[in-house]
Amino acid sequence: STRKKIALIGAGNIGGELAALCARKELGDIVLFDIPAKADFAKGKALDLEQNSSVIGYDAKITGSSDWKDCAGADVVIVTAGIPRKPGQSRDDLVATNLPIIRSVAAGVKEHCPDAFVIVISNPLDAMVYELKRATGLPRERVVGMAGVLDSARFQLFLAREANVSIKDVRAMVLGGHGDDMVPVLSATTINGVAATELIAREKLDAIIARTRTGGGEIVKLMGTSAYYAPASAAVAMAEAFLLDQKRLLPSAVYLDGEYGYKDLFMGVPVIIGGRGVEKILEIKLTDDEKVMLAKSAKSVQGITDVVKATPAS
Ligand code: APR
Repeated sequence: STRKKIALIGAGNIGGELAALCARKELGDIVLFDIPAKADFAKGKALDLEQNSSVIGYDAKITGSSDWKDCAGADVVIVTAGIPRKPGQSRDDLVATNLPIIRSVAAGVKEHCPDAFVIVISNPLDAMVYELKRATGLPRERVVGMAGVLDSARFQLFLAREANVSIKDVRAMVLGGHGDDMVPVLSATTINGVAATELIAREKLDAIIARTRTGGGEIVKLMGTSAYYAPASAAVAMAEAFLLDQKRLLPSAVYLDGEYGYKDLFMGVPVIIGGRGVEKILEIKLTDDEKVMLAKSAKSVQGITDVVKATPAS
C-alpha cells in the first residue's frame, strides 16, 4: 500500500481509541500490535474497527498482530504498551513493570521501524520516552512523549467551565514533567487572547491548577483505570501534525540538550511538530515563579529517569 502506516504498540484502551481516531481521520493503514497472549484480542478489535468503516465510511486497513514484522516500515509508531495506574498509584509506581516492556518495544522499533516518528504514551511518561530514545538510538527529532497536550486539555476544560465560555476559545499551556508538579503556564493562558487572569479570580485559578495537576488521578479514582479518550486524541493531534506537516505548536516531552537549562532529560516544552518531526524547540519566556515550578518538576523527572538509567537490562 502507498498509504501511510501507523503502528499502535499496545491494543488496550488507549490503543483501541487511537485506532478508531486514526481510521476516522483516514491518516493511514493501522496495525494494532500487542503481546502474543493478546494477539487474538488485537485481531478482534481490528476486525470490529474495520467493520465500523462500513458504517462510518472510512478507508483504512486495520490489522491486529503480535508479530513485529507487521509493523515494519511504519511512518508513525504510538506506544501505549504497559500497565495503567490503579487507584492510589502514582505514575512513578509503574516503572518496575513498564520499564522492561518499553525496552522490549524499543528493540522492536529499532529493528522494524527505524524511520518512524515515535510517540510514547506509557507511564511514567518522561522516563519511558527517555528510555525509548536511549535504547533505539533514534534522533531526538523523531521521539516525543505525549503529556502536555493532554494536561493542557484538562486545564483548558476547567478554565472554560469556570469562565463559562466555549472550550474552543480557551488556549493554555502546561509544561514540565507529566506528574503532580507539572507547570501550568498562566502567562500563556488566554481566552481568545484575553488573559485568563483578567476573567478568573486568583483563588479560582489556583484551584483549577491544583485540579489539573491531579487530573489524571481524579479519573483513575473514578474509573479504576486511567483515561483513554483524551490521551488518544492528544497523541493523534501530534501524529497528524507530523503526517500532514502541519507545523503545530504543541507542548511535548522532548529530549532536552541545554534548552531551559536542562540536559539529558525528557520534559514537556513547547515544540513545533511538522513533517520532519520535532522541527523546533521553543524557549519561551517564563516568569520567575514558573521557572521555580519547572525546576521542581525537572527534579522529579530527573529522579525517576535516574532510576531507569540505574536499572540493568534483565
Ligand atoms: N508489547 C506490546 N504491548 C504490550 C506489551 C508489549 N511488550 N506489554 C503489554 N502490552 C499491552 C497490554 O497487553 C495491553 O493490551 O499494552 C496494553 C495496555 O493497554 P491497557 O491495559 O488498556 O492500558 P491503557 O489504558 O491503554 O494505558 C497504557 O498508557 O497512559 C498510559 O499509564 C498508562 O502506561 C499506561 C499506558
